[in-house]
Amino acid sequence: MKKKQKKRPAKKRPVCLITGASAGIGSALAREFANAGWDLALTARREEPMVELAKELKEEYGSTSHIIVADLSKPGACADILERLAKKTTHIDGLVNNAGYGLTGNYTENEWPAHKDFLTVMLEAPCEMTRLVADGMVERRFGRIINVASLAGHVPGSRGHTLYAATKSFLIKFSQSLNLEMQEHNVKVSALCPGFTYSEFHDVNETRGAVDKLPNWMWMTAEEVAESGFIALARNRAVHIPGASNRMIALLARLIPESWALKLMSRNSEKFRKDKR
Ligand SMILES: NC(=O)c1ccc[n+]([C@@H]2O[C@H](COP(=O)([O-])OP(=O)(O)OC[C@H]3O[C@@H](n4cnc5c(N)ncnc54)[C@H](OP(=O)(O)O)[C@@H]3O)[C@@H](O)[C@H]2O)c1
Repeated sequence: MKKKQKKRPAKKRPVCLITGASAGIGSALAREFANAGWDLALTARREEPMVELAKELKEEYGSTSHIIVADLSKPGACADILERLAKKTTHIDGLVNNAGYGLTGNYTENEWPAHKDFLTVMLEAPCEMTRLVADGMVERRFGRIINVASLAGHVPGSRGHTLYAATKSFLIKFSQSLNLEMQEHNVKVSALCPGFTYSEFHDVNETRGAVDKLPNWMWMTAEEVAESGFIALARNRAVHIPGASNRMIALLARLIPESWALKLMSRNSEKFRKDKR
């Protein structure tokens, strides 16, 4: 009689948590992960676009999505998201810290609570979420992390949007260190640094009219950024700038004297400022 084979447990599909999954680069990255056989955990404040996206990911790629509606600027949001997620999945193998926005105006034109919320969403949330999911990745010896930074983190600061470039520089350095620390645990970490990208970003911060005057070669679609970022993550690139023209800008900023670069930024920053009413 043939010996009965022990039934192997079905291989679990990896799950990736994406913040800011209701629009733009976050949605596009969700499609990339789904296309590669991942299930998703989608979080943002607006539920409806995530429900639509989840439907699409199921139909197109057969992926299951868990939706968690949350505002990352609220205290305890990261722990709360993970607690709610724990009821739906036992493991988080991927994390995309993507949620973000721009705060227009000079530093003194915004009150501290607005800056504090900004820092919570742009810095505290990515750092805390990473810390909370990292142990599981290390334990399972598998993980993928993307921190969506920006080309702004590679060029000098500009007038207006005062904390934006600073937070993105922080994410780049954070990703570089984490990438080195996590290599021995088979956890890949990458800072994705897009330049101007078509999404809701410039509508939300009311700079659409101003940035629309920028030439076409400065723009990429969210899909192009996501595809390029996903490939860079697979190659474990600690820092990745999608698009040849964006890479040229970053290189130029490194090569020219800082005083010139600052002058250039101060001359051009008017172009990225809030639409005149
Ligand atoms: N577009 C660009 O030109 C560009 C360039 C470089 C880098 N980036 C970076 O790319 C990332 C994604 O931006 P995007 O261009 O895709 O912009 P987007 O289309 O406006 O998407 C931003 C996402 O962040 C979420 N979000 C914003 N505030 C949140 C909060 N308090 N709590 C939870 N979720 C929040 C939004 O969801 P809800 O509104 O539903 O909460 C949305 O899903 C950002 O980190 C941005 O800094 C963008």
